[in-house]
Amino acid sequence: MKALDKLFEDYFSDWLPLCPSASKIHSSLHNKGETIVNDHIALRTLQSSDFGVETLAKPFIDLGFDFSGDYTFREKKLRARHLEHPNYPVKVFISELEFSKVSDQVTKQCESMLNALRQEKSSKSNLGLMGRSWKFSKQVYEQLYRESEYAAWFYAFGLRANHFTISVNDLKYFKSIPDLNAWLKSEGFNLNSSGGEIKGTPSDFLVQSSTMSDEVGVKDDFTGEICKVPGCYIEFAQRFKDKSGKLYSGFIEKSADKIFESTSKK
Ligand code: NI
Repeated sequence: MKALDKLFEDYFSDWLPLCPSASKIHSSLHNKGETIVNDHIALRTLQSSDFGVETLAKPFIDLGFDFSGDYTFREKKLRARHLEHPNYPVKVFISELEFSKVSDQVTKQCESMLNALRQEKSSKSNLGLMGRSWKFSKQVYEQLYRESEYAAWFYAFGLRANHFTISVNDLKYFKSIPDLNAWLKSEGFNLNSSGGEIKGTPSDFLVQSSTMSDEVGVKDDFTGEICKVPGCYIEFAQRFKDKSGKLYSGFIEKSADKIFESTSKK
């Protein structure tokens, strides 16, 4: 499992600087004596034959993961798949923006991002960690944000993990998402309240919550201005046994749909 630990650590250390709240939450939980187990990580990408969901999944598949679920988010214009490993606790959720559903203007910007990635791809060992390989303009960011907050996030940050998710089942001190949420709020963290702070119910077998993304400074390469844009967030998940008596391991579209909005502007 060493190679898998390393793969997840690479994603984690790349993600953490874009989510300062996660550092604070992790260290507060450690101070309470908790050992943190991740439920899943989420990667965001764009539809394409060379950088799409299946391409980003490949390093995980090479280490024993398999596709386990397919999802569609009509309003967000996304499709997603999740992967599981028979003997590894962390699941992988990968989504991509579907060009057939967005405007020509957004498609054109996305194609230009993909072309920039193609220029650099040969020198990279893990495509999922390439980050951004194009210049950032606030004007383009705002234009993308108006139509697709997802496309705007990708434009600012490129290929990397969007969030890590703490498994609440593996916490000792906090027994449920409502318990954990109450503590997070008392500590001053900002929770995503789209559709309610708690997404899902025990009868869905999955209950989730997340912080709102921390604002991160991104330099406009054309004007030099430092723009504050939503960076990354941290999620919390509690799973329940389904009818087969096993812990449910999938995702709930209506909950995930709202979790995506954690990268919205406050
Ligand atoms: Ni998630």
